[in-house]
Amino acid sequence: MSGFDVEAVRAQFPALAQEAHPGKPLVYLDSAATALKPRAVIDAVTSVYAQDCANVHRAVHVLSQRATARFEGARDRVMRWLGAAEREEIVFTRGATEAINLVAASWGGANLQPGDEILITELEHHSNIVPWQLVAARTGAKVVVAPITDEGEVTLEAFTARLSERTKLVAFAHVSNSLGTVLPVATMIRRAHEVGAVALVDGAQGVVHARVDVRALDADFYVFSGHKLYGPSGIGVLYGKRALLEAMPPWQGGGDMIDRVTFEGSTWNDLPYKFEAGTPAIAQAIGLGAAIEWLEGLDLDAVLAHEAELLAYGTERLSALPGLTLVGRARKKSSVLAFLLEGIHPTDAGTILDAEGVAIRTGHHCTQPVMDHFGVTGTARASLALYNTKADLDALVRGLEKVRSFFG
Ligand code: ALA
Repeated sequence: MSGFDVEAVRAQFPALAQEAHPGKPLVYLDSAATALKPRAVIDAVTSVYAQDCANVHRAVHVLSQRATARFEGARDRVMRWLGAAEREEIVFTRGATEAINLVAASWGGANLQPGDEILITELEHHSNIVPWQLVAARTGAKVVVAPITDEGEVTLEAFTARLSERTKLVAFAHVSNSLGTVLPVATMIRRAHEVGAVALVDGAQGVVHARVDVRALDADFYVFSGHKLYGPSGIGVLYGKRALLEAMPPWQGGGDMIDRVTFEGSTWNDLPYKFEAGTPAIAQAIGLGAAIEWLEGLDLDAVLAHEAELLAYGTERLSALPGLTLVGRARKKSSVLAFLLEGIHPTDAGTILDAEGVAIRTGHHCTQPVMDHFGVTGTARASLALYNTKADLDALVRGLEKVRSFFG
């Protein structure tokens, strides 16, 4: 599709065609928490259970062959979506969180020593903080944090100043889920490589709101979750360079990840199966493949331009509201409008907005250190997806005017 017809796209999302409350059509502005699913994804998942319901890689019967072909086809789609060179570099996980835990436990457990440093940033999601703390505690390594500015940016100066020959791994978001900041990931990866560190990018938001090419970025690891990319929950991806994955020990043990098992010891399957113990999330992986296929049918440049226009419009409209402060004013930003309302708790604002049919998220957005930076316990956050419109943002502003009048 060339250009972008938002109404045609909206018509493909059944969840949008409902009232949140009687007389209040749903205005969904919480896509950073999870994106709604197009019919193509819902149908793909349904058809797995309705027609191709079998385990993968395990049986000669036709259902298993069909399920396996669709499951592995989804891996190929992910490979192309990320620009990876080889399908063996795409490991299915339960989500971005599990992918980071896998790298922390397997790569970190095998490579980190006392005195080594893991460099992250202050804007990371908990899933890109806690796994590093856990492996640091096990190995004697140390977690070092590059601070953000009050605009919510990670400057290259702050990041580079904390890199040294002690840095063994850097891990940072592509796009911040709570501030919308787009990080200069390509340069950060280059700087990390200059000191010999391995670079992991948390692409949970980035893979949705930017073009990703892991080879152009030269990312060593890139992780994301299916459910934020219009796919099912319970499925995520770890991309890793083949040489790194080959050298890493298995993380979880079980079926499919083995080559030969005896009571004396076991040997491991080839990539990517070495990291996929047990029956995988078959329908979810196929649903993720369907989401990517659906996205490939859109004009991605036009989608990103639509999202940028919405963000600019929302920023302008919210900035004009008295008593509202935007949290996160990075020069390069994507898809997130986080804010504080003077004298009004974010949860109260969220509750009143919900009564108007407007769904936003309130709280710490799984980034408590970001809240600490701004000296708050939480913010209100409207987050955008390709199906949103300026009318959605107008509804948000009308809702916020109600919030303001409620609190006099
Ligand atoms: N990390 C998700 C969010 O930003 C859940 O809301």
